[in-house]
Amino acid sequence: MVNDIHSIKEQAQEEIHNAASLKEVQSLKVKYLGKKGIITTKARSLGAVPKEDRPAYGQELNSLKKSIDELLQARAESCKAAEMEQSLQAERLDLTIPGSFTAFGHLHPVTQVMDEITAIFISLGFTVEEGPEVEHDYYNFEALNMPPDHPARDMQDTFYISDDVVLRTHTSSVQVRVMEKNSPPLRVIAPGKVYRCDADVSHIPMFHQLEGFMVDKHIRMSDLKGVLELFIHRVFGPDTKVRLRPSFFPFTEPSAEIDISCVMCRGKGCNVCGTSGWIEILGAGMINPRVYEKAGYDPGTYTGFAFGMGIERVAMLKYSIDDVRLFPENDKRFLEQF
Ligand code: DAH
Repeated sequence: MVNDIHSIKEQAQEEIHNAASLKEVQSLKVKYLGKKGIITTKARSLGAVPKEDRPAYGQELNSLKKSIDELLQARAESCKAAEMEQSLQAERLDLTIPGSFTAFGHLHPVTQVMDEITAIFISLGFTVEEGPEVEHDYYNFEALNMPPDHPARDMQDTFYISDDVVLRTHTSSVQVRVMEKNSPPLRVIAPGKVYRCDADVSHIPMFHQLEGFMVDKHIRMSDLKGVLELFIHRVFGPDTKVRLRPSFFPFTEPSAEIDISCVMCRGKGCNVCGTSGWIEILGAGMINPRVYEKAGYDPGTYTGFAFGMGIERVAMLKYSIDDVRLFPENDKRFLEQF
């Protein structure tokens, strides 16, 4: 009998030890401890054991049952741990594999420069206004001191929609629109698209301008110079020299072209600046009293300055681009450089 128990124990130990999965452990549990299992069957046949041996045998059987149960539990734990480890390995994510990327676009270089310039003027307290691109002759020309037969109209190759409606040739058209609706003090910029019937390396029929103006009491030409110098230094660097060259615009008096020292040769002279060392960058001046009259302001009370610049021109100088037609072409090889 005792031998019997011994051999069951040895066999159980070996089988449990070799069980390779929870499933195998489970079937061993059934085999030994189940309702029809080896130990249970033995316990049931306890009656066949001689009476005097019964307590000892019963005890042996009980402790065998207990030790098989413990072995099964321990094996079950280790199988569980091994299976968990296996599934962790199998489902392991390699976080070092580079992801797949979608190509992102970015703002057009003209928009980038426009935003940069706009931000500079906003930091100086200017507000942003917009006007229509299809504009009345009145705001584009007449309110800016260019009556119907004024020769200055010839310089702006105008697209006419009808006799008195045009595609605006400049953002100066926003000036009187804003003045009509607001009273001084005014600090305004008006960025936007403008149109001229012209096309070559330095002209495209649709391009961008930014108009700026400031109206208050006691605004002087030195204010104009200070604001524009600050703007130019922020865009082209603090070493850039600025000069005002006398010029003429019907809506400003006096008027000036603003030149900066050549960004390519730093003023030494090169083919970009035509050996002069200077590059024209924008037009400006003190707002002509005639414009105030159109807006209903008293020219004796208010003074102010205005300026206007081409955004493509600023972008070309900033990035050394020699053909303005590259901007609207939208060739990715060009755009990706910005
Ligand atoms: N509107 C002018 C143009 O398109 C640029 C300009 C010059 C605007 C002088 C101004 C100014 O406000 O004062 O050529």
